[in-house]
Amino acid sequence: MASMIVRNTSPLVRRVNAFCEARHSRIHGQGLFARRLIRKGTRIIEYVGERVSKSESNRRGLALYREARSTGGAAVYTFELNDKQDLDGNKPYNHARLANHSCDPNCEYVNENDRLFMFALRDIPKGEELTFDYGYDIAHFLDHPCRCGSEACVGFIVRRDQRLRLQKLLRRKSRTAEKKAEKEASGA
Ligand SMILES: C[S@@+](CC[C@H](N)C(=O)[O-])C[C@H]1O[C@@H](n2cnc3c(N)ncnc32)[C@H](O)[C@@H]1O
Ligand SMILES: [Zn+2]
Repeated sequence: MASMIVRNTSPLVRRVNAFCEARHSRIHGQGLFARRLIRKGTRIIEYVGERVSKSESNRRGLALYREARSTGGAAVYTFELNDKQDLDGNKPYNHARLANHSCDPNCEYVNENDRLFMFALRDIPKGEELTFDYGYDIAHFLDHPCRCGSEACVGFIVRRDQRLRLQKLLRRKSRTAEKKAEKEASGA
C-alpha cells in the first residue's frame, strides 16, 4: 500500500538556529532546548529587541506583568542593557526571549559592547533545556515564583548572591507562621 510522505513541519518544535530549538517547557510556556551537544563557552544566541529608556521599560514591564497575572503568560521580556537603557525583547523575531530561568543554570548572558549574548556555562547535552539566572533582586521575590525544579531551587526567581538571604527570610517567615498557628490552636 502506498503511503504519503509528510514533511515534518510540526509547530510544536521550531528550529531557532544551529544550536537550539523552541518547544514546550516543563518550567514555563515555551523554552529553548539544545538541538545538539553544545560545548562549554559556545555563544548560542543573541537577545535582540527594541532599545528603550528605563522609564519606558518600567512602564512596559508593569503592563506585561499585570497581563501575565491574569493569563499565566510570560511576565518579563525586558533585559537590562546599561545604566540608561533596557532591551524590550517582546518581539516575535527575538527567539532568545524564550529561555527560562533556573536556579542551577547551564547558560549565562554576557554584555559585549551593549549587545547581549548567551553562552554555555558547561557542556550541554542534546535535548536539555537552556536556562540562565534572570538575576532578579530579592525586593520583588514574591512576584516571581520559580518552577525550575532544580535541587538548588529556592522557590522564587532571585539572583544567586541573594538566595541565602532569601532562604533565611523564608525560614523566619515559616517559623513565625508556625508559632502563630500553635498559639491559635492552644486558644491563647
Ligand atoms: C523571557 S520569558 C521566558 C519564556 C516563556 N517561558 C514564554 O513562554 O514566553 C520570562 C517569563 O517566563 C516565565 N518563567 C521563566 N522562568 C521561570 C521559572 N523558572 N519559573 C516560573 N516561571 C518562569 C515567567 O513568567 C517569566 O516572566
Ligand atoms: Zn528555581
